[in-house]
Amino acid sequence: MKKILVAVLLSVGLIGGMNAYAAGDAAAGEARYAACIGCHGPGGNSLNPMWPKLAGQNPLYIRLQLEAFKTGKRKDPIMAPMALAVDEKAILDLAAYFASVKRSAGVSNPEQVKKGELIYINGFPQRGVLACGACHGADGYGNPGAGFPNIASQQALYLVKMLKDYRAKTRTTDPGEVMQNVAANLTDAEIDQLAQYAQSLAP
Ligand code: HEC
Ligand code: HEC
Repeated sequence: MKKILVAVLLSVGLIGGMNAYAAGDAAAGEARYAACIGCHGPGGNSLNPMWPKLAGQNPLYIRLQLEAFKTGKRKDPIMAPMALAVDEKAILDLAAYFASVKRSAGVSNPEQVKKGELIYINGFPQRGVLACGACHGADGYGNPGAGFPNIASQQALYLVKMLKDYRAKTRTTDPGEVMQNVAANLTDAEIDQLAQYAQSLAP
């Protein structure tokens, strides 16, 4: 059943996502990024551990998130007002810019990384926790065509917040509630380990 869900999500995303960014202009996106740099950092590499890096993020994922902030589907008192100022053309340009810049590496706690790696690769089949690598890839780069996010070398504290938001069902942007279902069966300690592991993956 879960395998079928993954296959359906992948194929829907692959078909829907094709050529979605042909229109994006990275140079125009870089100019627009002046409004974002104060929080998301130089070159899209946030220096605040609570706030996400956008460099190297998959364009379709960027588009879906900015649209979700605009419609109120994704809630955050700091970020949501920022998205209101960004129109459809700017979203495509910003997404092209983020795809064109390299994400900076992250530094993690080695003990946590070892524990997180096991969960990332295997999940917990008995608890219904799917293996993360099935969707985010062994490298953590996600699935650009399907709009699955790149979580490699992302800020760990941001990843922890997201996994807890999915678990609490306060983040509901995930198609088919995949991430809410994955996070529902993870403990705080496991979330920390997974976040440290993802942050340790090479950008
Ligand atoms: C005042 C600080 C601030 C500014 C300015 C800001 N952001 Fe954000 N942004 C945030 C925070 C905080 C989050 C995480 C929200 C959460 O916890 O869900 C975020 C999240 C995001 C995400 C989701 C990333 C992910 O991995 O899901 C995108 C995309 C984004 N911002 C794009 C932008 C763009 C584009 C701009 C400029 C137009 C911008 N932000 C300006 C604070 C800011
Ligand atoms: C069936 C596919 C699938 C599996 C398995 C999966 N994810 Fe996800 N993940 C997604 C999708 C799709 C999104 C984006 C959902 C959205 O828009 O809210 C996502 C989003 C995330 C985010 C938010 C990223 C951001 O930038 O805000 C984190 C963190 C994450 N996943 C971690 C994990 C971890 C850790 C595991 C394993 C325990 C896992 N995922 C398993 C598909 C999956």
